[in-house]
Amino acid sequence: MFVPMLNDAPGKTDERRGFLQAVTAGLGALLGAIVTLPGVALLVHPLRKDTVDGGKDPLDVGASEKQVKPGEPVMVDVRGELKDAWMRTPDVKLGACWLVREKENDPVKAFSTVCPHLGCGIDWAAKKNQFLCACHNTYFDLQGKVLEGPSPRGMDELDVKLSPEGRLKVAYRRFRIGSAKKEVV
Ligand code: FES
Repeated sequence: MFVPMLNDAPGKTDERRGFLQAVTAGLGALLGAIVTLPGVALLVHPLRKDTVDGGKDPLDVGASEKQVKPGEPVMVDVRGELKDAWMRTPDVKLGACWLVREKENDPVKAFSTVCPHLGCGIDWAAKKNQFLCACHNTYFDLQGKVLEGPSPRGMDELDVKLSPEGRLKVAYRRFRIGSAKKEVV
């Protein structure tokens, strides 16, 4: 509480009170910023936004074209560099994909194993000859099209490149889930 001095004139007392209130308000704002800013900084910290970098340079998935038989999808890991604003981590598992060939001599296609519905993993149901996401029972055919279930779009196809030695390289991407539109995230 502010106690005016006995010899203060009334005008001078008001002036001093105003000054002290302004200083107190300023200190409060400064203290608030000191407490709040680290939290904000943490939220927008680039380390929280891992970036999958497999799209620009297709990554060798450790399989050759010959290993993919017609009607027998093969699941492979996709490994590559994970980078953010601060660091690069080489040889990290970025995800996985299904390699598919429908008929002999067809080019090999690659599909992300991430279900476009809510992001569960897609398996191969060999008995049905279909892909299945068991989370909410979405079935996809060999071309990745939805046959049945809640997925808003088909399996996400990834670009495939063939090395001169016949090794398969996949441009790995992640896509927005829960959307009918295929959008890179
Ligand atoms: S997450 Fe795949 S069907 Fe729901």
